[in-house]
Amino acid sequence: GVKVAIIGAGSSYSPELIEGFAKLKDRLPIREIVLMDIDEQRLDIMLGFSKRFAQYLNFPVNIRATTDRRDAIEGAAFVNVQIRVGGNAARINDEKIPNRYGLIGQETTGAGGFTKALRTIPAMLEIARDVERYSPDAWIINYTNPAGLVTEAVTKYSKANMAGLCSGGLFPRNWTAKALGVDPDSVRYDFYGLNHLNYAWNITVDGRSLTDEEFDLAADRTWSLDKEMVKRLRLLPSPYLQYFYHKGLRVAEQLEAPLTRGEQVQLLEKEVFAAYADPEQYEKPAALAKRGGGGYSEVALGIMDAIYNDRNMWAVVNVPNRGAVPMMPDDAVVEIACNVNKNGIKPLPLRDIPTIGWGLVSAVKNYEQLTVEAAVHGDKEKALLALLAHPLVGEYDIAVPLLDDLLEANKVYLPQF
Ligand code: G6P
Ligand code: MN
Repeated sequence: GVKVAIIGAGSSYSPELIEGFAKLKDRLPIREIVLMDIDEQRLDIMLGFSKRFAQYLNFPVNIRATTDRRDAIEGAAFVNVQIRVGGNAARINDEKIPNRYGLIGQETTGAGGFTKALRTIPAMLEIARDVERYSPDAWIINYTNPAGLVTEAVTKYSKANMAGLCSGGLFPRNWTAKALGVDPDSVRYDFYGLNHLNYAWNITVDGRSLTDEEFDLAADRTWSLDKEMVKRLRLLPSPYLQYFYHKGLRVAEQLEAPLTRGEQVQLLEKEVFAAYADPEQYEKPAALAKRGGGGYSEVALGIMDAIYNDRNMWAVVNVPNRGAVPMMPDDAVVEIACNVNKNGIKPLPLRDIPTIGWGLVSAVKNYEQLTVEAAVHGDKEKALLALLAHPLVGEYDIAVPLLDDLLEANKVYLPQF
């Protein structure tokens, strides 16, 4: 049987994974699930609930908890990582500080995502080092944000195997399948860009291209973007492109909103954890569905299944480019359609790239590469360059004081600076 670890198991998303493992129990024979977190209280609650939930799902498995990362990782075949350095309090700073400068305040996009990367990359590299040492053949299955930056840091600075995942890679599939009433597995597309900054096009159903009318129906299913715009682009963009294509509107909304998303999530977490802590609670609490990350387990379990059972699965994953996208450096991590089997994750070559996307994607990749260097080496000058390279910051007169504020607010989490 297989040992799996969940690092950051105190996350409210953990039950999604337990449910996924339960669904896949005949294809992925799990002997043990080890929950690891540095927060003993949340870990304890999650252990209790996970055991009840597994029982409710008729899933006979040994679940245990530890605060010792090595104990969790040693001998595991899959190391699922879902950490949040600094918790939601740090997320709220990532949202509010850029807002004070009239910039987008978002946990993965713009200056907020930059700050989250500075906090998260050193922690991810420590996990990757433990994987190299104690389970060198294991796969890190990562959903920790900012997923693209974290994947680029780990693939550049460690030898650990890593799948960098996001539920967003399946959004175009789900929009199309719902719009046309077809099996989601029959939908395929070309996918180009970075995590939370991408486009799907050349969409097919069972190998047949969508008609213009069918594309418009799929476009009607997208969210956070002007649907007329999506129809004019003839691409299905990531909802996170709202922060670029509707920047003015979104900043104005954020400045008026009574609570940031992080503050809303903090309230949701209270509700969700109260449910998890209740010894009578056996099912996933309803409030969990209000989190944006539902759907991870489908992506994550699909990848684990494809690797373990050598399934040659089509999946959208963050991987080093290695020639798949022209004009991107080979070591740049891109989010792209891949083939996944026991030998790993191979990007599928792109036939073309969208004429609108490549400038923005290249600029944000430029920012990402500078951010990885800044985060790994604690280099404040690179950090400043990263903010200048980012299209959502880009101004020296803002970048200088903004960087000081961000570093100051996060200093306990940034020992490298
Ligand atoms: C989407 C993104 C995730 C992100 C989540 C945020 O699913 O793909 O990367 O973490 O939304 O959800 P939240 O409930 O934390 O705002
Ligand atoms: Mn995501």
